[in-house]
Amino acid sequence: MTLDDQSEIKRRDLHNARDVLAGFPAQCRDATRLVPSPALPRAKPALVVVAGMGGSAAGGDLLAACAAERSDVPIVVHRGYGLPAIAGDRTLVIAVSYSGNTVETVSAVEVAIARRIPAVALTAGGTLGALAARHGVPLVTLPSGLMPRMALGYLFFPALAAAENVGLQIARADDIADALATVETLAAELGPDRPTATNEAKRLAVAIGTRMPAIYGGPDTGAIAYRWKTDVEENAKTFALAGALPEMSHNEIEAWRAPSAAALHLLLLRDAAEPPEIARRFAILRDLVASAAGGVSESWTRGSSRLARLLSLVYVGQWTSYYLALLRGIDPWSVPLLDELKRRMGPGASSS
Ligand code: PA5
Repeated sequence: MTLDDQSEIKRRDLHNARDVLAGFPAQCRDATRLVPSPALPRAKPALVVVAGMGGSAAGGDLLAACAAERSDVPIVVHRGYGLPAIAGDRTLVIAVSYSGNTVETVSAVEVAIARRIPAVALTAGGTLGALAARHGVPLVTLPSGLMPRMALGYLFFPALAAAENVGLQIARADDIADALATVETLAAELGPDRPTATNEAKRLAVAIGTRMPAIYGGPDTGAIAYRWKTDVEENAKTFALAGALPEMSHNEIEAWRAPSAAALHLLLLRDAAEPPEIARRFAILRDLVASAAGGVSESWTRGSSRLARLLSLVYVGQWTSYYLALLRGIDPWSVPLLDELKRRMGPGASSS
């Protein structure tokens, strides 16, 4: 198919994921107005643990990547059952589960309640919503009806606000305004109506084609590379690999000597603010491995603030994985294996 065939796009995108993606800037703006109820205690924590899985953990990764710029409090993203042993009474647990039925995340809040660790829950309802309400845990109730990975605005901005409530300044008001304006501009450039010739996400999807994307970021965009990987896996239902410089240049770089490198598409996530030594490392990496790869592309951050730069790159990745799904004739919305695994693990565990 061609990605400029609107009727074919509608035929393949069975659940109108395109409308949800196009609405991402509005979702982000709406999410900046959501606050926990009851309000969080004001004490500044020594540690923040964001507990979540999959699409709901992605907001935590973004929070940690933004916090690295100015926060003096570490942010740990916990993907698993319970809580890490280091979590204590000077920890704030931000438990994020869009459905509210993810057993790992529910167990994190159960442990927080049992250990009297301050917590806040972000969810559209489910078991987590009921648990928080029952125990008076501050709760941000999110609008329902989305797939978690397409609800990143709702999963990130209330977490940012919760951190701000307890005295952690991770992004200033002008950083947030810059991020909102940047994704608004991008929305007009990436949607189905914008032809491939001038649409970065369509061009990237076409360039990747049937190859497996090998997505590398730098020190700040490495977390975003991981998000691109999971979006490709869940939306396009195909494998992707992700890594970050400088680490991958100490190990994974050697794998590019394998004949199978020709089946990969090298995709570099570049940051307009990356330090010169990282820019040089990207250039040398490209020089060394590009001829082995099946193809090479770069995608650059937009906007000025760190939040704007990282969020803009996530947004390009969302659209790219969406178009990859359509090119493969795959419905980007549904995740049948993921749902089936949750179903077999226990009652009430669904992804949306
Ligand atoms: O994007 C998805 O659908 C998944 O990655 C989910 O986010 C993940 O399974 C966890 O579910 P939830 O976000 O509802 O806690």
